[in-house]
Amino acid sequence: MSTLQNKRILLGVTGGIAAYKTAELVRELRRTGASVRVVMTMAACEFITPLTLQALSGNPVHTSLLDPEAEAAMGHIELARWADLTLIAPASADFLARLSGGMGDDLLSTICLATRSPIAIAPAMNQAMWDAPSTVANMTRLRQRDFIVLGPGSGEQACGEFGPGRMLEPVELAGHLELLFSTEALTGKTVVITAGPTREAIDPVRYLSNYSSGKMGYALAAAAAEAGARTILISGPCQLAAPERVELVNVVSADDMLQACLEFSPKADLFIGAAAVADFRPATVAEQKLKKSDADTMTLELVKNPDIIAAVAAQGQAPFTVAFAAESEQVLDYARAKLARKKVDCIIANDISAPGIGFNSDDNAVTLIDRRGETRFEQQSKAQLARELISRLAERL
Ligand code: PMT
Repeated sequence: MSTLQNKRILLGVTGGIAAYKTAELVRELRRTGASVRVVMTMAACEFITPLTLQALSGNPVHTSLLDPEAEAAMGHIELARWADLTLIAPASADFLARLSGGMGDDLLSTICLATRSPIAIAPAMNQAMWDAPSTVANMTRLRQRDFIVLGPGSGEQACGEFGPGRMLEPVELAGHLELLFSTEALTGKTVVITAGPTREAIDPVRYLSNYSSGKMGYALAAAAAEAGARTILISGPCQLAAPERVELVNVVSADDMLQACLEFSPKADLFIGAAAVADFRPATVAEQKLKKSDADTMTLELVKNPDIIAAVAAQGQAPFTVAFAAESEQVLDYARAKLARKKVDCIIANDISAPGIGFNSDDNAVTLIDRRGETRFEQQSKAQLARELISRLAERL
């Protein structure tokens, strides 16, 4: 499977003859399983129509920063946050100059300032323009600022000249992007991750549960597998497919999850508890469906569930253990207290009161806390956040 599967690629198209190749590029990226959204500069629209790229990407194409209707649908900040990777192809000499100068005078340059995703650029221009001292200086600055430079290729140019400045072919660009997403930071390691909610039965047809979708835990599992780890995902009931190369263990209740964690965690180097485990379960499970009585209220007696992550961390040869702390107030204080109480190595504080992040959303924003200090990860897709967290945790191992 391609490492671009389910990745969100924001394709920025600037004005140059190579813009015609972006039709093929969008098809190629979608073939790998990536979602593609396209942002075009005004000059790019002179070379290829937004309609073509809209049809091929399956998403509306964005062209203007000052269009209230477009901004209301998906504004520049949302687009910037949406991207797992921003690719500017073709990147014209003029756009590279504006990027290097930190300009924000149109939609694409503004997104480049606002996004936290990596930005890859595929330059395309006449060979003399590529060699011009201004372009060379701009490229040096962009490389120093960690922009990823793909190409350009060398050969015959649209203007009839020969030399460097051709945009790489769509298949080559997609291949480079695939490599960007594959890391081997966890090769040889085993990672166990819990995800999703647990269900605590009341009777044969009812249960107690919560709104966890499993997206955060599944994204972490995908990122761990991508990083080369043997990955075991212990999941409560979710509607998600197991990520490629991940061993999925399905469980229902907190008790089931505890048993599975105790079975698999002794083999693990890293354990991450992203599941939203029910803290309590009904004291008894009725064998038959509970009947409605005439009373207006009913009382359900609950008993405490086992603390799974504390049990994992307390084992003789415990893996490096990471808990999540879902908090709606005093997020960092409560998370620090949980780090100490559960005796885990690291805690990831998750503010679930903020809209658009936390339970059942596509994005998240967290603070990683351990004995070395605290690191904030701003709002981004759970897929991208998971990669950043896995790479940070791999360093700790
Ligand atoms: O699944 P999503 O929709 O993507 O949402 C992701 C998430 C918000 C559920 C996730 O990012 C998250 O914050 N998970 C932890 C939720 C939670 O239950 O937090 P907690 O503060 O109650 O628990 C703290 C830690 O102890 C967690 O690692 C939890 O897995 C663990 N725990 C809790 C109770 C229990 N009985 N046993 C446990 O192991």
